[in-house]
Amino acid sequence: MKVLVNNQLIERVEAKIDIEDRGYQFGDGVYEVVRAYNGQFFTYEEHIDRLYASANKIDLVIPFEKAELRELLEGLLKANNIGTGNVYLQVTRGIQSPRNHVVPELPLEGVLTASASEVPRDTTLFEQGRKAILEEDVRWLRCDIKSLNLLGNTMAKNKAHQAGAFEAILHRGEEVTEGSATNAYIIKDGTLMTHAADNLILSGITRQVILQVARDIGVPVAETGFTLTDLATADEVFISSTTIEVTPIIEIDGKQVRDGKRGPITKKIHDAFTAEVLKQCGELAFS
Ligand code: PDD
Repeated sequence: MKVLVNNQLIERVEAKIDIEDRGYQFGDGVYEVVRAYNGQFFTYEEHIDRLYASANKIDLVIPFEKAELRELLEGLLKANNIGTGNVYLQVTRGIQSPRNHVVPELPLEGVLTASASEVPRDTTLFEQGRKAILEEDVRWLRCDIKSLNLLGNTMAKNKAHQAGAFEAILHRGEEVTEGSATNAYIIKDGTLMTHAADNLILSGITRQVILQVARDIGVPVAETGFTLTDLATADEVFISSTTIEVTPIIEIDGKQVRDGKRGPITKKIHDAFTAEVLKQCGELAFS
């Protein structure tokens, strides 16, 4: 397996990370996960724009121009022979010795690392759906930044896993925010409802595509958020991300959502999403 360390494509076992990298010590960095279908990136620009926007919000300078970064990431995809899979990339603020919370005045050299893996589409996710649990959202108040700090997310995800569920749907009091690694939606009386893209959620790229295709196919969209009560009485529930597309939620905290099957509007939205993937990346292979 070949990985990227800055502008070098090297064998994974050869990659070395400095123990005083601020990403390693403080989680001081940003990341993206980009999906490829048929060896073509999907919504590449949107992901990279979000990477630079996240970096900008924490005054981190990405050490590459966008064109150069694209060349590097496409090279990574090719070197690993990825057809349908995921590219993970992160940029940390760089190495600072000795460790100091204060960022030095002269900018550090940012460190880019990236890896790629083949991950076929899993139709059982989309067709059968998955179970979720509810979990209080104890994360910080800048969830719009795709930062490396994911303890609040991983703790919630692991709680779900231990409960035999796929995802933890997070809420701040009555207000549902998002999943631990996904955005969350309900369908209520034909309207698609989701949290506004503010500081309490990550503005998912999949979410952006979903809202667009939903409007295109005539499903009304309300970015007004929804409550735990709305969730409990929803007609359909689903989650989304780069890696899981549109995945129905069929049970929450042991309670079945409606008939426990993917809802008709969720299916329509996923079909429209798939058409968008097809448009950008060509014919799709299923697992
Ligand atoms: N997670 N919200 C959170 C907290 C996320 O971590 C993610 C993505 C999303 C969905 O964003 P997008 O549609 O752009 O993937 C929402 C990625 C996949 C991850 O951390 O692996």
